[in-house]
Amino acid sequence: MPEAATGRAAFDETERLSRDALRELQLTRLRASLQHAYDHVPFYRTSFDRAGVRPQDCRSLGDLTRFPFTVKDDLRSNYPFGMFAVPRSEVRRIHASSGTTGRPTVVGYTARDLSSWADVVARSIHAAGGRAGHTVHIAYGYGLFTGGLGAHYGAERLGCTVVPASGGMTSRQVQIIRDFRPEIIMVTPSYMLTLLDEFERQGIDPRSTSLKVGIFGAEPWTQEMRREIEERFAIDAVDIYGLSELMGPGVAQECVETKDGLHIWEDHFYPEVVDPITGEVLPDGASGELVFTSLTKEAMPIVRYRTRDLTRLLPGTARPAFRRMEKITGRSDDMIILRGVNLFPAQVEEIVLRTPGVAPHFQLRLTREGRMDRLTVRAEARPDAAPEARTAAAGRIARCVKDGIGVSVDVEIVDPETLERSVGKIKRIVDARPRERG
Ligand code: DLL
Repeated sequence: MPEAATGRAAFDETERLSRDALRELQLTRLRASLQHAYDHVPFYRTSFDRAGVRPQDCRSLGDLTRFPFTVKDDLRSNYPFGMFAVPRSEVRRIHASSGTTGRPTVVGYTARDLSSWADVVARSIHAAGGRAGHTVHIAYGYGLFTGGLGAHYGAERLGCTVVPASGGMTSRQVQIIRDFRPEIIMVTPSYMLTLLDEFERQGIDPRSTSLKVGIFGAEPWTQEMRREIEERFAIDAVDIYGLSELMGPGVAQECVETKDGLHIWEDHFYPEVVDPITGEVLPDGASGELVFTSLTKEAMPIVRYRTRDLTRLLPGTARPAFRRMEKITGRSDDMIILRGVNLFPAQVEEIVLRTPGVAPHFQLRLTREGRMDRLTVRAEARPDAAPEARTAAAGRIARCVKDGIGVSVDVEIVDPETLERSVGKIKRIVDARPRERG
């Protein structure tokens, strides 16, 4: 099979490194990065001093555990530019994440940071099967969100033709895809479903497009969602992960030939997994919260950042030097605790997508009756579903949640096209409980 069809050939020399050589590179970069943070960001100087550690105490990768964590609130308290480690004149770009409450989180990049970012995204698109000469339709939002511009410069770096569609104007997206004939689309999985509806509304077979690969991320999505998208569009669907605090998209990428979790580009980002409650570092293979330390960032180095994303680390496969992370199962702050049982939207997604008669659109609505929280799974009927199929679907979803997750929920099957559609990151949980009085 030609190399372009298997997606296997390495994009750059780093992909060919041995695990030992990579670890050596990581240690050199880690030591420099800790020193850079300590010397130029008062926040890190204070937090290292308080913990009684100095950058030179890091003599092995294992020594990193002696350094304190950084959390989102630390970034907020240093709003807007307090975490920057270079003079403002060296900062070439700023992004920010909106945040649901309070101040946004601001991040900055030097020219070299932007170049490293383009490199890791190019490597990601390559691992997804993209090649120079392909056309890439980017429907991640452009703007302060890192998705659009991050994907953009990576695709250009790889030598692709970029269509910077951004999010929204869905009917026009469909027309552009038909006319410009991209091989690759980069978009949130939930917005891909919105596009699917639009193809069908326009009477166009989604399997008939030029698309071959979809690179989906910015929100959790399940294997069931992969199957749905792959089948309905006749494409390969692979996962891309990232967060603005660390860089943006392109921190980790699933390889198209294995689709077995995401290889972390460990030459730039050093991962750990910790117990989300105690902070204890867990061995590879154990599930917990992902923590990252940047190894090359100049404008805003970040040390042991608590992502709140839950996953586990696994050995490399298609790119043996780099460890993989399992598909994210959820964020610790998206976890619903219902009558003592923990539940993640992804678990409900698996069930809804396996249920005949319902579309892959659902919402979780939390209400309170007396002192009791109730959860209603609202799922949309497929347009062709008969009334009996809707009743059966409701029963099946309730039963699977009870048997699989261990808690009773209400299920409401709503009419087709009634739930709000995503144009970017989807919001699965609607919390309609009365506000606690403090
Ligand atoms: O979402 C960066 C990105 C853009 C990644 C486009 C991939 C594609 P933030 O807005 O800072 O950055 O949000 C980061 O989104 O901590 C995860 O909770 C979630 N997330 C990102 N990628 C995935 C993924 C971008 N593949 C937060 N699976 C992260 C699950 C993801 N969750």
